[in-house]
Amino acid sequence: MATLRLTIRSQATVKSIGRIAVSHLRNPASRSFSHASQRQSAATAESTAPRVQHAGPLYSQTTQPINYSSTIKIPIDGEAVEFDSIFLRDACVCPECVDVSSTNKNFATSDIPSDIEGSFRGISTTNGQESAIVHWNRDAQGWSSEHVTTIPIDTLQRLAAGDKRTHISHFKPSNRVFWDSKTMEANNNFIDFAEYKNTDKAVYQALKMLESHGLVFLRNVPDSTSTDSGASITDVVSRIGPLRSTFYGLTWDVRSVPKAINVAYTNKFLGLHTDLCYLDLTPQYQILHSMRAKAPGGESMFADSFKAAETLRQTHPKLFEALVRFPVTFHYYNAGQSYRQIRCTVELEDKNDLNSPIKNTNWSPPFQGPFALDIGSRDGGKALREFHEASQKFEDLISAPENVFELRMNEGECVLFDNRRVLHARREFDPTKGERWLKGAYLDRDVFASRLARLEEQYGT
Ligand SMILES: [Fe+2]
Ligand SMILES: [Zn+2]
Repeated sequence: MATLRLTIRSQATVKSIGRIAVSHLRNPASRSFSHASQRQSAATAESTAPRVQHAGPLYSQTTQPINYSSTIKIPIDGEAVEFDSIFLRDACVCPECVDVSSTNKNFATSDIPSDIEGSFRGISTTNGQESAIVHWNRDAQGWSSEHVTTIPIDTLQRLAAGDKRTHISHFKPSNRVFWDSKTMEANNNFIDFAEYKNTDKAVYQALKMLESHGLVFLRNVPDSTSTDSGASITDVVSRIGPLRSTFYGLTWDVRSVPKAINVAYTNKFLGLHTDLCYLDLTPQYQILHSMRAKAPGGESMFADSFKAAETLRQTHPKLFEALVRFPVTFHYYNAGQSYRQIRCTVELEDKNDLNSPIKNTNWSPPFQGPFALDIGSRDGGKALREFHEASQKFEDLISAPENVFELRMNEGECVLFDNRRVLHARREFDPTKGERWLKGAYLDRDVFASRLARLEEQYGT
C-alpha cells in the first residue's frame, strides 16, 4: 500500500502572477496517512456531511476551514500561486483521470463543469515526486466525491515560472553553439559506428552534437552494397527512429547520372542549400553515407546558417528583418511531381518578436521559383530590393571561407545534419576518373526530439 505524506505548507510568502492575486498561506499542520484510509474516511464523511466538508475528518487537526472556490492557491517554492479550478482539474494525473498503462486521458476538458470548485489540501510525496492534492466540489460527471486530484509540483513550477512551451522543444536555443570552420574543426569528433550501434550513450552523444552544432559525423559505417546499399544508413537512422519517406524514397542515391532529375544527381558544383524547402514538412535532419569516394573533387561543405543570420541580426537589423519577412517561392515541378511552398528565409520561434531565437532557415537557390507577383512587386519593389540586398549579405556570410567547414567524406563516413540550420554543398567532381556515391535519408524533428528527450532522462545531467 502506497503511503502518501501530506504536508500543509506554512508561512508561504506572497506572489502575484498575471491576473493572480495571492494571499498568505498559514497552516502549520503536517501528518502522514494512507491513501486507502483517506478514501474510506472521505466516503464515510460524504454520506453524512454536506459535500463541502466531505474531507473534513481527514483534516480534523487543521484549524483552517476548508474552502472550495473557482481559483485555488498552491504553495510553490514558498510562494502561494493561484490557479483556475478548470486548469487544475484538467491537469489531474490521478490513475482515474489518466490511464496508467496507455497514459491517455480518460476525460475531456469539456466534461468539466464550468462551476467546478476546488480546495487545495496539501502536498503528497510518492517515490520522491511531490504532488499537489486538490479536492473538488461539483466534479466532472462520473467522478465520485472521493476523487482526489494529484498534480506534480514540477509541472506547476514550470507554469509559475512562465514556461510557455507548447511542445517538446528539439531546439534548446541555450544549448546552441554557433560555429565557424575553426570551431567546427576543433569540436568535431567522429563517432565510431560500432559504438553508435551498440550503445545508447553514443547515440546520445550524436544527438547532443546535432542539438548544439547541427552537425555530427560517424565513421566505419559498413559497406552494405553486396546485399542492400541502403542497409547501413537505415541502421544509422533507425538508432534514432523511423526514417522519413519522400518521393525520393526511404533512402536515395546521390551519384552522377545521365538526365538527372535533380542537380544533386549531376557532377556539378552545388552551392550551399537546404533540402526540400518546397515541402510543407521539410525534413529536419539529413543523413548522408559515403559509399564511394573515388572521383577527384566532390568535397562536402557545411555552413551554420544560424550563425550567419545572428551576425546579420547584429550588424544589419533591417536586412535581417527582410529575411524574416520576405516570402520566397520554392518549387519542384519535374518528373511527375508538383510541389510548391512560399516561405521566408529565416523563421523565428516567435515571428512577432524580431529578438526571438531562430527556429529554422530556408535557403535553396536551385529550387527557387519566381517570386509571387503580389510579393515581388509590393511597394514598387522596395521589399524585393531589401530582400535582394539581404540575400547577398547572407550568401556572403554563409560562403565566406572562414565560415565553411569543408571535408572530403571518405568511404564509410556518414554525416547527420540539421537540414533546417546547417546548409550543405559539394564541389564539382570528375565522374570519369572514379565513382562518387552517397546514400541519403531523412529524419523528422518529432522523432529526433522524442529520442533525445528519453536519452536525456537517462544520461542528461
Ligand atoms: Fe542537398
Ligand atoms: Zn483525477
